[in-house]
Amino acid sequence: MSPQSAKKKPTPKRTRASASKTKRGAGKRRASTPENNVKPKLYASLVVQLLSLLKGEQDFIANAANFSALLFNSLPNVNWAGFYFLQGDELVLGPFQGNPACVRIPMGQGVCGVAAQQCETIIVPNVHEFPGHIACDVASNAEIVVPLFDGERLLGVLDLDSPTIGRFDDQDAEGLNELVTVFVAHEEGLGL
Ligand code: SME
Repeated sequence: MSPQSAKKKPTPKRTRASASKTKRGAGKRRASTPENNVKPKLYASLVVQLLSLLKGEQDFIANAANFSALLFNSLPNVNWAGFYFLQGDELVLGPFQGNPACVRIPMGQGVCGVAAQQCETIIVPNVHEFPGHIACDVASNAEIVVPLFDGERLLGVLDLDSPTIGRFDDQDAEGLNELVTVFVAHEEGLGL
């Protein structure tokens, strides 16, 4: 089983941290210190773990489920981690970890729908200040949504929620985009 999408964006923006809607830190490189190396090191370790989880496995849903479990159990202060996949003009809930969530999100609605429509990673420091945010878990206060592409074809989004306001930053965007790239590359190799 694989996400159904034939939607093509003529000039999609790449799934890189630089595509983040958050201006904070955009285009800037901070000096490397032990403190601000914590997240990059964690994400580098997650890339290794994800590659290990994916190795030799061809089932898309199983791989997406393990990917979401890896994120949910490895990233601190995360209360939801999972996928929405594009089917027609809406996003449909995929494998995830956390409380039950809304199943269908129209393109352009909620953080997920906006990220999918704009083909950009969106970091929301405070979901209560995001117009149209769809509340699935009252515990969620911050969110990051990363679009998934197979070439220029939008597959869906990876969505993470946190109870901590300001939990996600450009380092998370960069790390998650790298993980998503690894995941999609593996699935592409399987003929997604
Ligand atoms: N908050 C999301 C909906 C999905 S849940 O967070 C799992 C949104 O606004 O699109």
